[in-house]
Amino acid sequence: MKALVLSGGHGTRMRPITHTSAKQLIPIANRPVLFYGLDALKEAGITEVGIVVGDTADEVMNTVGDGSRWGLEITYIQQDAPRGLAHCVLISKDFLQDDDFVLYLGDNFIVNGITGVVDEFRQQRPDAHILLTKVEDPSRFGVAELNPDGTVRKLVEKPKEPRSDLAIVGVYLFTPKIHDAVNAIRPSKRGELEITDAMQWLLDHGHDVRSHEITGYWKDTGQVEDMLECNRMVLETFSADVRGDLDEESTVIGRVVIHETAQIRRSHLVGPLVIGAGAKVSDSYIGPFTSIGDGCELADTEVESSIVMDRSTIRGVHRVQDSLIGRDVHVMPARDVPRTHQLVLGDHSRVRIVR
Ligand code: G1P
Repeated sequence: MKALVLSGGHGTRMRPITHTSAKQLIPIANRPVLFYGLDALKEAGITEVGIVVGDTADEVMNTVGDGSRWGLEITYIQQDAPRGLAHCVLISKDFLQDDDFVLYLGDNFIVNGITGVVDEFRQQRPDAHILLTKVEDPSRFGVAELNPDGTVRKLVEKPKEPRSDLAIVGVYLFTPKIHDAVNAIRPSKRGELEITDAMQWLLDHGHDVRSHEITGYWKDTGQVEDMLECNRMVLETFSADVRGDLDEESTVIGRVVIHETAQIRRSHLVGPLVIGAGAKVSDSYIGPFTSIGDGCELADTEVESSIVMDRSTIRGVHRVQDSLIGRDVHVMPARDVPRTHQLVLGDHSRVRIVR
Protein backbone atom coordinates (compact mmCIF):
# COMPACT_ATOMS: atom_id res chain seq x y z
CA MET A 1 0.00 0.00 0.00
CA LYS A 2 1.24 3.50 -0.89
CA ALA A 3 0.37 6.99 0.30
CA LEU A 4 -0.27 10.18 -1.63
CA VAL A 5 0.22 13.26 0.52
CA LEU A 6 -1.03 16.59 -0.79
CA SER A 7 1.15 19.57 -0.04
CA GLY A 8 0.25 22.09 -2.73
CA GLY A 9 -2.58 24.63 -2.84
CA HIS A 10 -2.52 28.35 -2.14
CA GLY A 11 -3.62 28.33 1.51
CA THR A 12 -5.65 31.51 1.02
CA ARG A 13 -7.27 31.21 4.45
CA MET A 14 -3.86 31.40 6.13
CA ARG A 15 -2.64 34.59 4.47
CA PRO A 16 -0.32 36.40 4.85
CA ILE A 17 1.81 33.51 6.19
CA THR A 18 1.04 31.53 3.03
CA HIS A 19 2.10 34.35 0.69
CA THR A 20 5.63 33.24 1.35
CA SER A 21 5.35 29.79 2.86
CA ALA A 22 3.48 26.49 2.46
CA LYS A 23 0.52 26.08 4.82
CA GLN A 24 1.59 22.49 5.45
CA LEU A 25 4.85 23.78 6.94
CA ILE A 26 3.31 26.03 9.58
CA PRO A 27 4.63 24.63 12.86
CA ILE A 28 2.58 23.01 15.56
CA ALA A 29 4.68 22.72 18.73
CA ASN A 30 7.70 23.63 16.58
CA ARG A 31 7.18 20.87 13.97
CA PRO A 32 5.52 21.43 10.57
CA VAL A 33 1.95 20.14 10.52
CA LEU A 34 2.91 17.92 7.55
CA PHE A 35 5.41 16.00 9.74
CA TYR A 36 2.61 14.68 11.94
CA GLY A 37 0.94 13.17 8.86
CA LEU A 38 4.20 11.52 7.78
CA ASP A 39 4.58 10.11 11.31
CA ALA A 40 1.08 8.61 11.05
CA LEU A 41 1.80 6.99 7.66
CA LYS A 42 5.05 5.48 8.89
CA GLU A 43 3.31 4.18 11.99
CA ALA A 44 0.66 2.54 9.79
CA GLY A 45 3.43 0.60 8.03
CA ILE A 46 3.42 2.58 4.77
CA THR A 47 6.83 3.43 3.32
CA GLU A 48 6.27 4.49 -0.31
CA VAL A 49 4.97 8.03 -0.19
CA GLY A 50 4.27 10.45 -3.05
CA ILE A 51 4.02 14.12 -2.11
CA VAL A 52 2.17 16.39 -4.52
CA VAL A 53 3.71 19.87 -4.45
CA GLY A 54 2.74 23.18 -6.03
CA ASP A 55 4.20 26.71 -5.94
CA THR A 56 5.96 26.00 -2.64
CA ALA A 57 7.68 22.86 -3.97
CA ASP A 58 11.22 24.00 -3.08
CA GLU A 59 10.35 24.80 0.51
CA VAL A 60 8.49 21.50 1.01
CA MET A 61 11.30 19.49 -0.57
CA ASN A 62 13.99 21.25 1.47
CA THR A 63 12.10 20.73 4.71
CA VAL A 64 10.99 17.12 4.22
CA GLY A 65 13.94 15.84 2.17
CA ASP A 66 14.03 12.28 0.88
CA GLY A 67 12.05 10.92 3.82
CA SER A 68 14.95 8.94 5.32
CA ARG A 69 14.36 10.74 8.63
CA TRP A 70 11.13 8.72 8.90
CA GLY A 71 12.36 5.65 7.03
CA LEU A 72 10.08 6.66 4.15
CA GLU A 73 10.85 6.66 0.42
CA ILE A 74 9.48 9.92 -0.90
CA THR A 75 8.71 10.75 -4.52
CA TYR A 76 7.73 14.35 -5.34
CA ILE A 77 5.03 14.99 -7.90
CA GLN A 78 4.66 18.52 -9.28
CA GLN A 79 1.18 19.95 -9.87
CA ASP A 80 1.11 23.01 -12.18
CA ALA A 81 -1.74 24.77 -10.34
CA PRO A 82 -4.25 23.89 -7.61
CA ARG A 83 -6.76 22.02 -9.77
CA GLY A 84 -8.35 19.91 -7.04
CA LEU A 85 -7.68 16.83 -4.96
CA ALA A 86 -8.90 14.45 -7.66
CA HIS A 87 -6.52 16.17 -10.10
CA CYS A 88 -3.68 15.28 -7.72
CA VAL A 89 -4.68 11.62 -7.99
CA LEU A 90 -4.92 11.95 -11.77
CA ILE A 91 -1.36 13.27 -12.17
CA SER A 92 0.03 10.70 -9.73
CA LYS A 93 -0.98 7.59 -11.69
CA ASP A 94 2.63 6.74 -12.64
CA PHE A 95 3.60 6.74 -8.99
CA LEU A 96 0.47 4.98 -7.68
CA GLN A 97 0.21 2.41 -10.51
CA ASP A 98 -2.38 -0.20 -9.54
CA ASP A 99 -1.68 -0.19 -5.82
CA ASP A 100 -4.09 0.61 -3.03
CA PHE A 101 -3.30 3.92 -1.37
CA VAL A 102 -4.05 6.39 1.38
CA LEU A 103 -4.76 9.94 0.22
CA TYR A 104 -3.64 12.24 3.02
CA LEU A 105 -4.19 15.99 2.96
CA GLY A 106 -1.00 17.56 4.30
CA ASP A 107 -2.81 20.22 6.33
CA ASN A 108 -4.99 17.74 8.22
CA PHE A 109 -4.18 16.92 11.78
CA ILE A 110 -5.38 13.72 13.45
CA VAL A 111 -4.57 12.65 16.97
CA ASN A 112 -4.00 8.90 17.45
CA GLY A 113 -2.89 8.22 13.89
CA ILE A 114 -4.52 6.10 11.19
CA THR A 115 -3.09 2.65 11.87
CA GLY A 116 -6.45 1.12 12.88
CA VAL A 117 -8.29 2.30 9.79
CA VAL A 118 -5.42 1.31 7.46
CA ASP A 119 -5.39 -2.21 8.93
CA GLU A 120 -9.16 -2.51 8.52
CA PHE A 121 -8.94 -1.34 4.91
CA ARG A 122 -6.17 -3.82 4.14
CA GLN A 123 -8.44 -6.67 5.30
CA GLN A 124 -11.72 -5.57 3.72
CA ARG A 125 -10.61 -3.62 0.64
CA PRO A 126 -13.78 -1.68 -0.22
CA ASP A 127 -13.28 0.54 -3.30
CA ALA A 128 -13.10 3.59 -1.07
CA HIS A 129 -13.08 4.12 2.66
CA ILE A 130 -13.62 7.56 4.17
CA LEU A 131 -13.42 8.93 7.67
CA LEU A 132 -16.19 11.14 8.95
CA THR A 133 -16.53 13.34 11.97
CA LYS A 134 -19.30 15.51 13.39
CA VAL A 135 -18.66 19.24 12.99
CA GLU A 136 -20.56 22.41 13.81
CA ASP A 137 -20.08 24.03 10.41
CA PRO A 138 -20.39 21.24 7.80
CA SER A 139 -20.72 23.68 4.87
CA ARG A 140 -16.92 24.28 5.13
CA PHE A 141 -16.25 20.63 4.21
CA GLY A 142 -17.25 17.68 2.07
CA VAL A 143 -20.39 16.29 3.71
CA ALA A 144 -21.66 12.69 3.86
CA GLU A 145 -25.29 11.67 4.01
CA LEU A 146 -25.78 8.15 5.34
CA ASN A 147 -28.64 5.67 4.92
CA PRO A 148 -30.43 4.46 8.06
CA ASP A 149 -28.27 1.30 8.00
CA GLY A 150 -25.10 3.44 8.06
CA THR A 151 -24.07 2.93 4.43
CA VAL A 152 -23.09 6.00 2.41
CA ARG A 153 -25.94 7.56 0.39
CA LYS A 154 -24.49 10.77 -0.91
CA LEU A 155 -21.31 12.86 -0.76
CA VAL A 156 -21.47 16.59 -1.48
CA GLU A 157 -18.60 19.10 -1.51
CA LYS A 158 -19.24 22.17 0.66
CA PRO A 159 -23.03 22.14 0.41
CA LYS A 160 -24.79 25.44 1.20
CA GLU A 161 -27.50 23.49 3.00
CA PRO A 162 -25.81 20.42 4.46
CA ARG A 163 -28.04 17.35 4.90
CA SER A 164 -25.94 16.08 7.83
CA ASP A 165 -23.26 17.27 10.24
CA LEU A 166 -20.77 14.61 9.11
CA ALA A 167 -17.70 16.19 7.52
CA ILE A 168 -15.32 14.18 5.37
CA VAL A 169 -11.91 14.06 7.02
CA GLY A 170 -8.88 14.60 4.77
CA VAL A 171 -7.70 10.98 4.91
CA TYR A 172 -9.12 8.60 2.30
CA LEU A 173 -8.30 4.98 1.43
CA PHE A 174 -8.68 3.78 -2.15
CA THR A 175 -8.26 0.78 -4.39
CA PRO A 176 -7.25 1.52 -8.03
CA LYS A 177 -10.99 1.87 -8.91
CA ILE A 178 -10.63 5.55 -7.98
CA HIS A 179 -8.63 6.12 -11.19
CA ASP A 180 -11.74 5.38 -13.32
CA ALA A 181 -13.63 7.92 -11.22
CA VAL A 182 -11.07 10.75 -11.40
CA ASN A 183 -10.90 10.27 -15.17
CA ALA A 184 -14.68 10.45 -15.52
CA ILE A 185 -15.60 13.53 -13.46
CA ARG A 186 -15.68 17.17 -14.59
CA PRO A 187 -14.49 20.28 -12.69
CA SER A 188 -16.81 21.64 -10.00
CA LYS A 189 -18.17 25.19 -9.73
CA ARG A 190 -14.92 26.29 -8.09
CA GLY A 191 -13.15 24.92 -11.15
CA GLU A 192 -11.51 21.98 -9.38
CA LEU A 193 -11.67 18.22 -9.80
CA GLU A 194 -13.17 17.28 -6.44
CA ILE A 195 -12.30 13.99 -4.75
CA THR A 196 -15.79 14.15 -3.22
CA ASP A 197 -17.29 14.05 -6.75
CA ALA A 198 -15.01 11.14 -7.66
CA MET A 199 -16.32 9.18 -4.68
CA GLN A 200 -19.91 10.09 -5.59
CA TRP A 201 -19.13 8.70 -9.07
CA LEU A 202 -18.06 5.42 -7.41
CA LEU A 203 -21.36 5.33 -5.51
CA ASP A 204 -23.37 6.11 -8.67
CA HIS A 205 -21.66 3.24 -10.46
CA GLY A 206 -22.43 0.70 -7.76
CA HIS A 207 -19.01 0.56 -6.13
CA ASP A 208 -18.38 -0.05 -2.48
CA VAL A 209 -17.75 3.19 -0.54
CA ARG A 210 -17.62 2.71 3.20
CA SER A 211 -17.30 5.17 6.01
CA HIS A 212 -16.16 5.19 9.56
CA GLU A 213 -16.91 7.90 12.09
CA ILE A 214 -13.88 8.95 14.08
CA THR A 215 -14.40 10.22 17.56
CA GLY A 216 -10.84 11.37 18.24
CA TYR A 217 -9.51 14.84 17.61
CA TRP A 218 -9.31 16.05 14.00
CA LYS A 219 -8.64 19.47 12.49
CA ASP A 220 -8.32 20.81 9.00
CA THR A 221 -5.74 23.43 9.92
CA GLY A 222 -7.10 25.84 7.31
CA GLN A 223 -7.51 28.78 9.68
CA VAL A 224 -5.47 30.53 12.34
CA GLU A 225 -7.80 29.48 15.19
CA ASP A 226 -7.45 25.83 14.09
CA MET A 227 -3.66 26.09 14.14
CA LEU A 228 -3.66 27.56 17.65
CA GLU A 229 -6.02 24.81 18.82
CA CYS A 230 -3.79 22.05 17.38
CA ASN A 231 -0.82 23.72 19.02
CA ARG A 232 -2.63 23.54 22.38
CA MET A 233 -3.53 19.88 21.78
CA VAL A 234 0.04 18.83 21.02
CA LEU A 235 1.62 20.86 23.82
CA GLU A 236 -0.82 19.18 26.23
CA THR A 237 0.84 15.84 25.44
CA PHE A 238 4.38 17.05 26.27
CA SER A 239 6.34 16.23 29.41
CA ALA A 240 8.70 18.74 30.94
CA ASP A 241 12.19 18.78 29.43
CA VAL A 242 14.15 21.81 30.52
CA ARG A 243 17.58 22.01 28.94
CA GLY A 244 19.23 25.18 27.75
CA ASP A 245 20.87 27.90 29.73
CA LEU A 246 18.54 29.18 32.46
CA ASP A 247 19.68 31.73 35.02
CA GLU A 248 18.73 31.60 38.70
CA GLU A 249 16.34 34.51 38.40
CA SER A 250 14.10 32.59 35.98
CA THR A 251 11.23 30.38 37.08
CA VAL A 252 9.66 27.45 35.29
CA ILE A 253 6.26 25.99 36.11
CA GLY A 254 4.58 23.00 34.48
CA ARG A 255 5.44 21.16 31.30
CA VAL A 256 8.05 23.38 29.76
CA VAL A 257 10.31 22.14 26.96
CA ILE A 258 13.42 24.21 26.30
CA HIS A 259 15.98 23.38 23.63
CA GLU A 260 19.51 22.86 24.90
CA THR A 261 20.80 25.83 22.91
CA ALA A 262 18.16 28.31 24.14
CA GLN A 263 18.99 31.01 26.67
CA ILE A 264 16.57 32.23 29.37
CA ARG A 265 17.24 35.26 31.59
CA ARG A 266 15.09 36.77 34.38
CA SER A 267 11.93 35.27 32.91
CA HIS A 268 8.84 33.46 34.09
CA LEU A 269 7.72 30.45 32.05
CA VAL A 270 4.41 28.66 32.61
CA GLY A 271 3.80 25.51 30.51
CA PRO A 272 2.80 23.75 28.51
CA LEU A 273 5.10 25.51 26.12
CA VAL A 274 8.10 24.88 23.88
CA ILE A 275 11.12 27.06 23.14
CA GLY A 276 13.23 26.22 20.09
CA ALA A 277 16.94 26.07 19.31
CA GLY A 278 18.98 29.21 19.80
CA ALA A 279 16.03 31.22 21.11
CA LYS A 280 16.78 34.03 23.57
CA VAL A 281 14.24 35.05 26.20
CA SER A 282 14.89 37.83 28.71
CA ASP A 283 12.78 39.78 31.23
CA SER A 284 9.66 38.13 29.84
CA TYR A 285 6.67 36.01 30.72
CA ILE A 286 5.78 33.13 28.42
CA GLY A 287 2.43 31.62 29.23
CA PRO A 288 0.68 28.32 28.54
CA PHE A 289 0.11 26.94 25.03
CA THR A 290 2.89 28.88 23.38
CA SER A 291 5.44 27.67 20.83
CA ILE A 292 8.51 29.81 20.32
CA GLY A 293 10.47 28.82 17.19
CA ASP A 294 14.20 28.50 16.59
CA GLY A 295 16.29 31.65 16.79
CA CYS A 296 13.52 33.87 18.23
CA GLU A 297 14.30 36.77 20.54
CA LEU A 298 11.83 37.80 23.23
CA ALA A 299 12.73 40.67 25.54
CA ASP A 300 10.64 42.57 28.08
CA THR A 301 7.45 41.05 26.78
CA GLU A 302 4.55 38.71 27.58
CA VAL A 303 3.33 36.04 25.17
CA GLU A 304 0.61 33.48 25.74
CA SER A 305 -1.40 30.98 23.66
CA SER A 306 0.51 31.80 20.51
CA ILE A 307 2.75 30.40 17.79
CA VAL A 308 5.87 32.44 17.08
CA MET A 309 7.75 31.08 14.08
CA ASP A 310 11.52 30.96 13.55
CA ARG A 311 13.78 34.01 13.91
CA SER A 312 11.12 36.48 15.03
CA THR A 313 11.70 39.21 17.59
CA ILE A 314 9.18 40.52 20.12
CA ARG A 315 10.41 43.29 22.36
CA GLY A 316 8.63 45.54 24.85
CA VAL A 317 5.09 44.44 23.95
CA HIS A 318 2.55 43.54 26.65
CA ARG A 319 0.80 41.19 26.04
CA VAL A 320 0.64 39.14 22.86
CA GLN A 321 -2.08 36.52 22.99
CA ASP A 322 -3.85 34.08 20.56
CA SER A 323 -1.48 35.16 17.83
CA LEU A 324 0.23 33.49 14.90
CA ILE A 325 3.46 35.27 14.08
CA GLY A 326 5.39 34.31 10.95
CA ARG A 327 9.13 33.97 10.37
CA ASP A 328 11.59 36.89 10.65
CA VAL A 329 8.92 39.21 12.08
CA HIS A 330 9.73 42.16 14.36
CA VAL A 331 7.17 43.36 16.89
CA MET A 332 8.10 46.30 19.11
CA PRO A 333 6.63 49.53 20.52
CA ALA A 334 6.46 52.73 18.52
CA ARG A 335 7.88 56.00 19.87
CA ASP A 336 6.02 57.36 22.91
CA VAL A 337 5.37 60.78 21.38
CA PRO A 338 3.44 61.16 19.21
CA ARG A 339 1.45 58.05 20.13
CA THR A 340 1.05 56.50 16.72
CA HIS A 341 1.00 52.95 15.46
CA GLN A 342 3.71 52.36 12.93
CA LEU A 343 2.94 49.33 10.79
CA VAL A 344 4.68 47.50 7.98
CA LEU A 345 2.26 44.67 7.22
CA GLY A 346 2.15 42.20 4.35
CA ASP A 347 -0.96 41.77 2.20
CA HIS A 348 -3.86 40.15 4.10
CA SER A 349 -2.29 40.78 7.52
CA ARG A 350 -4.68 41.11 10.44
CA VAL A 351 -3.72 43.21 13.46
CA ARG A 352 -5.67 43.93 16.62
CA ILE A 353 -4.32 46.89 18.53
CA VAL A 354 -5.17 47.93 22.08
CA ARG A 355 -6.91 51.35 22.12
C1 G1P B 1 -10.94 19.35 1.29
C2 G1P B 1 -12.04 18.47 0.69
C3 G1P B 1 -13.22 18.36 1.66
C4 G1P B 1 -12.73 17.83 3.01
C5 G1P B 1 -11.61 18.73 3.53
C6 G1P B 1 -10.98 18.11 4.77
O1 G1P B 1 -11.39 20.68 1.35
O2 G1P B 1 -12.44 19.00 -0.57
O3 G1P B 1 -14.19 17.47 1.12
O4 G1P B 1 -13.82 17.80 3.91
O5 G1P B 1 -10.57 18.89 2.56
O6 G1P B 1 -9.92 18.86 5.25
P1 G1P B 1 -10.42 21.94 1.07
O7 G1P B 1 -9.48 22.00 2.23
O8 G1P B 1 -9.75 21.65 -0.23
O9 G1P B 1 -11.32 23.13 1.01
